Amino acid sequence: MSTPHNSANPGDIAESILLPGDPLRAKVIAETFLSDIVCFNSVRNMLGYTGTYKGKPVSVMGTGMGMPSIGIYSYELIHFYGVKNLIRVGSCGSIVKNVRIGDIVMAQGACTNSSYALQYGLNGTFSAIASYDLLHKAVKSAEAHGYPYVVGNVLSSDTFYTETPVWKDWAKMGCLGVEMETFALYCNAVRAANAGEGSDDASKDTANPFEDVKALGIFTVSDSLVTGEATTAEERQNKFTNMMEVALDVAADL
Ligand code: HPA
Repeated sequence: MSTPHNSANPGDIAESILLPGDPLRAKVIAETFLSDIVCFNSVRNMLGYTGTYKGKPVSVMGTGMGMPSIGIYSYELIHFYGVKNLIRVGSCGSIVKNVRIGDIVMAQGACTNSSYALQYGLNGTFSAIASYDLLHKAVKSAEAHGYPYVVGNVLSSDTFYTETPVWKDWAKMGCLGVEMETFALYCNAVRAANAGEGSDDASKDTANPFEDVKALGIFTVSDSLVTGEATTAEERQNKFTNMMEVALDVAADL
């Protein structure tokens, strides 16, 4: 069975997937880092590939930009394709002075100005957090490689071009960087992992096929909203490779 957005058949996609925003980046990642790759999707040119990394099946697929887009793709990967480990690999803008261009940011949490979580009917403010297991593995990898990294909150913003510099208020609340997808990814993962909780029969021993679903967002800082600096194409490529090594280490460690 395929979905309106993904022509893969069940079994075509590995339990661990890397999720760049740009589908052409997914192609480059597959061609550069994975062996024996097979393309499983090209609907809307949202390219997806499965291959192996250090002998383990790993997939990579674009998500598009923004929460509606990653919301669709990640939901389908989890619910229709049995994907368990979703690792977003993207770029973010730094919004604090001590997070520098080229650093790796790991999103322990994601705040948002989007209405994505309204669908859950929560009577308050939801804190979207990463899988501790994936985050811990990513930290171990960055430490082992000696790559500069920071762990903390990010802002998943609905807008790239903003009427006023909204990031400033989020910086005052400790957010390190701004990007546009991770909040929705974390919502989809935790909602699936906790399906069955909070229901009237939650005390019954009913298996939840999604209980092992985990998500993490890691980013290379591509620009600074504080200083106005941006990376050169060459820097971006080198630092991007560091982040990919971290993400692939996580996938290989699962
Ligand atoms: N805003 C939103 N998303 C981003 C940015 C930004 O400045 N830089 C990289 N991703």
